Amino acid sequence: MQKYYSKTVVIKYGGHAMSNEQLKYSFAQDVVMLKQVGINPVIVHGGGPQIGEMLEQLGIENRFEQGMRVTSPETMDIVEMILSGKINKEIVGLISRTGGRAVGFSGRDGHLLSAKKMQSDGSSDLGQVGVVSAVDISLIKAVADFIPVIAPVGIGSDGEAYNINADLAAGSIAAALKAEKLLMLTDVAGLLDKNGERISSVTLTDVEKMRKENVITGGMLPKLKGVFDALKSGVAKAHIIDGRLMHSVLLELFTVEGIGTEILNA
Ligand SMILES: Nc1ncnc2c1ncn2[C@@H]1O[C@H](COP(=O)(O)OP(=O)(O)OP(=O)(O)O)[C@@H](O)[C@H]1O
Ligand SMILES: [Mg+2]
Repeated sequence: MQKYYSKTVVIKYGGHAMSNEQLKYSFAQDVVMLKQVGINPVIVHGGGPQIGEMLEQLGIENRFEQGMRVTSPETMDIVEMILSGKINKEIVGLISRTGGRAVGFSGRDGHLLSAKKMQSDGSSDLGQVGVVSAVDISLIKAVADFIPVIAPVGIGSDGEAYNINADLAAGSIAAALKAEKLLMLTDVAGLLDKNGERISSVTLTDVEKMRKENVITGGMLPKLKGVFDALKSGVAKAHIIDGRLMHSVLLELFTVEGIGTEILNA
């Protein structure tokens, strides 16, 4: 535990890892314990499945292109309601229930995540999908006694909202905070090779090769881009871990072998 004392650990909590009550509770317990022993956890959450469900209920189009949700103004409203309103406050509530003090906000608060429109690769317009153009960590610093819980919504130059992929948001925030570690919780055992076997350690060079061989697809692509951004900006280590395991965060940080896939800047 001394290894991480007073260090920052950014944790991307994937929408897919929030699948049941027990898991959510064990995640909150882990985070609260980190804070209690003097580590600074910063949570960035997703919410893809929950947004999808709501769009379906409302009969609004739910379409992905290039791994990103095509975001009309109408969709953006739902994205923000679910992320900043529902999921964000749910996580704050869980942390509170397990004895911690959390404060929830989105990247639209305090200029945390400045964003601009993501340029699509030509064929189609992604709408209000954004990329992070700058990160201002003052709000996170201002609430240092609390556990920050961050929804991945960015703010444009006119104050408008942008839908930012949570993995990319987590990568940028970890980079700006010069975090000790970036943990990406997801719904698979880690990065899987072409035979579907978990890889325990991998370099960015290996990852690039796997991407070219189409072994990495879908939701794993932005995750590794977030990891890439973080490692290239001085974050010491990044791990993709299985959020379906109880206490996966503690298992990764405090066991020698760790779990999931460690990604090295090489
Ligand atoms: N090489 C690979 N190894 C592991 N998973 C992969 C690989 N290539 C693609 N994937 C896919 O990436 C998915 C994880 O990303 P996904 O975006 O679905 O979840 P998440 O990011 O944890 O949740 P959310 O997007 O809701 O925050 C896996 O479920 C798997 O289907
Ligand atoms: Mg994802």
